[in-house]
Amino acid sequence: MRSLLWLAVVGLAVAEDGLAAWLRYARVPSASRHLGKLPSAVVTLNATKGYPVHTAGQELVDGIGGLFGKKLTVAKSKPKGTTATVGTVSAYVDKNPSAAKGLPDLVEDGFYLKISKGNVLILGQNERGALYGAFHYLSVIAQGNVSDFTLTSNPDAPVRWVNQWDNMQDGGTHGSVERGYGGDSIFFWDGHIREDLTRAGQYARLLASIGINAVVANNVNANASILTPENMDGLARIADVFRPYGVQLGVSLNFAAPQLLGGLDTFDPLDKTVVNWWQGIADNLYKRIPDMAGYLVKANSEGQPGPMTYNRTLADGANLFARTLKPHGGIILFRAFVYDHRSLNQTLDWKADRANAAVDYFDGLDDKFEDNVVIQIKYGPIDFQVREPVSPLFTHLRRTGATVELQITQEYLGQQAHVVYLAPMWKELLDFDLRVDSKPSTLKSIVSGKRFGQKLTGYAGVVNVGTNTTWLGSHLAMSNLYAYGKLAWDPEQTSTGILKEWTTLTFGHDKLVHDVITKISMESWPAYEDYSGNLGIQTLTDILLGHYGPNPGSQDGNPWGQWTRADDDTIGMDRTVWNGTGFAGQYPPEIAAMYENIETTPDNLLLWFHHVPYTQKLKSGKTVIQHFYDAHYKGSATAQTFVTLWEKLKGRIDKERYEHVLFRLIYQAGHSLVWRDSVNQFYFNKSGIPDELGRVGNHKYRIEAEEMELKGYKSYRVSPFEAASGYHCVVTETNSTVGTATTKLKVPSGKYDLAVNYYDMALGNSTWELFVDRKLVGKWKGDLEYELGRAPSPYIDGQTAARKTFRGVRVKKGSELKVVGRPDGLEPAPIDYISVLPEGTVD
Ligand code: GCU
Repeated sequence: MRSLLWLAVVGLAVAEDGLAAWLRYARVPSASRHLGKLPSAVVTLNATKGYPVHTAGQELVDGIGGLFGKKLTVAKSKPKGTTATVGTVSAYVDKNPSAAKGLPDLVEDGFYLKISKGNVLILGQNERGALYGAFHYLSVIAQGNVSDFTLTSNPDAPVRWVNQWDNMQDGGTHGSVERGYGGDSIFFWDGHIREDLTRAGQYARLLASIGINAVVANNVNANASILTPENMDGLARIADVFRPYGVQLGVSLNFAAPQLLGGLDTFDPLDKTVVNWWQGIADNLYKRIPDMAGYLVKANSEGQPGPMTYNRTLADGANLFARTLKPHGGIILFRAFVYDHRSLNQTLDWKADRANAAVDYFDGLDDKFEDNVVIQIKYGPIDFQVREPVSPLFTHLRRTGATVELQITQEYLGQQAHVVYLAPMWKELLDFDLRVDSKPSTLKSIVSGKRFGQKLTGYAGVVNVGTNTTWLGSHLAMSNLYAYGKLAWDPEQTSTGILKEWTTLTFGHDKLVHDVITKISMESWPAYEDYSGNLGIQTLTDILLGHYGPNPGSQDGNPWGQWTRADDDTIGMDRTVWNGTGFAGQYPPEIAAMYENIETTPDNLLLWFHHVPYTQKLKSGKTVIQHFYDAHYKGSATAQTFVTLWEKLKGRIDKERYEHVLFRLIYQAGHSLVWRDSVNQFYFNKSGIPDELGRVGNHKYRIEAEEMELKGYKSYRVSPFEAASGYHCVVTETNSTVGTATTKLKVPSGKYDLAVNYYDMALGNSTWELFVDRKLVGKWKGDLEYELGRAPSPYIDGQTAARKTFRGVRVKKGSELKVVGRPDGLEPAPIDYISVLPEGTVD
């Protein structure tokens, strides 16, 4: 068994398909030099198979074996030579009563490490803490630091959960995992819990290594059938594969389950039969899973049922579950993401504002919740946008504890098809000082419980891994999961420090690899903000469809409330108290005053709080509209550099991951141009104000497909208009006609980069061929829906727009340029334009 495991670990490292993520245990440079400073045997104190201390012992053996090629023995009592002793503080003190005095204070899950001349002592306050200590030690030595040290590490907050938005059933609008871009659910299939839960166990291992202590496996938009006896048995199997890693299972509930599943005629939280029904559910779950973490509940939001259906308060709803969990020691995370997406009216009501909803709904409830209720609050008042102010609700809950909900899955931030390292954004939010009672009140101090003294507080991260071997669909996106765990443990860590650790563990020690990944990652969020949505206007994506490609017009004119209020002259949400929706007034006075006043509102949130003319001057001296244009050019230009930076790593990391990342970065570079041009074109069209630098609407290297000589292709007006250069593309005349678009080049003879912008819909796999003077330059297939996990779309729009570039192609003045498109299924081989770019130019 041992040797099988050993092979598995080494095998993972060799395949480099991402499955082992940062736990590759790949050999460290000059490993043999360190052998003398490593333990020779592992002693596990009071270990039981299937529990964390036992797992810790295994990890030490596998880890030191993989990292240094040193085979450790496992012993029950003290063997000869250097040892790694791992266990709980109490087990250690039982054996060595005199040692108790020298040990530091630990909180639940905390650990103590003492490394001295090859002897390693790893103690946890509980079993989980011991495992965390083992993982920490392994991470330190994997980074090449094999020296003596002592460390006491306690988590910043007790709740460090992840949420998976996994559906019981594939299909529907979101498939297997809602807003999941890494494949199907690792937990559920066909309405049941999967038989093979290997991946679930591997997931728990990854999460334990970064200090995560619970996973809610099913979607917040919960299916009541999760609570059938058969599925409860399945949940118990998930809990079984989690347990060795100290990860507890949480379950997401459908508020109407008593009616939908239980056959009752009500789900009123104050109705006795309903209360009894839920008590039965809790008892049945805990019979199967005695260490279950608790529940997560989304109620009265986006069409979900909740207590307000019966005119009960949100506290009545949360307490219903809290009371049934209390005898079992469970807790409930009750979401503050409560709003009505049907009744908000932008045209009739200037003061209507979805951002107000959470504070309005929770008003007056702070002291009404049971003490095992935690309110889970998204970081911003709307919905995981590229830039939002910190939710003011954090300042209104002083008795009831809160968790901050962060999103690792990049729903509005490029869906893992764009690299966006999120730690810098999370740090900004966590460090933001909300000035409650005019005292320092950073978000991190609130969610650690330190500011208001609550016991149950912390972090919830929406992760949405899937069956893809990369977990999230992209190797680089895994730094976000790593950073989430690290910040939930200790929000003082720096974005670059976390990244450095992650890069070493994931890609090794090469300095150039570090420099490149650091540069790309640290520039990625600002770049994405620049080319998606600036000045606090939010991610200008298609909010009605996939939340992926650009579609600024989709924000307004519907009751979803993600409005920009853009008209021909003005833009932005007036959230002031004096003239707007009053949202600014939900903050403590110092912060409210800052946001109320346009002069003191930071530029990056200007349009979040104020409605201004496009010609409004920013603090930088630029107008709003010119800032839009410039930022979109700047951000997309940065995205182009990611490709050239990454190409420096050819041969320096394994081919498998190198190619995988390169493919995505090339795609991102192309899609960033789609973003740039769509957003700029949209606001140019609305405002009529030209770009001072003359770029917007002027693309001298482009040949519009609809202006080429067409055979079998016809011109097609794209909607939204801004998703096509010149508002049009070409599509084949029928689903079986081969289309050709031909033109004579007028450029001087020389070498050019030829870029073809096309649309890759999820309706078929068309093929395109590009010819110069009848010589094939390249051929490609419209199969991005398989290559990228981002939301698939059947439309010709900013979501499906993509670019294929062929570099250094020799052309002559008068050369014939031809694209041949072969439709497939319902995908009519659409082409937008071809850019004939002097080498090094991008447009
Ligand atoms: C967003 C997201 C939904 C999700 C919801 C939530 O609106 O698009 O898919 O269900 O947030 O957090 O509940």
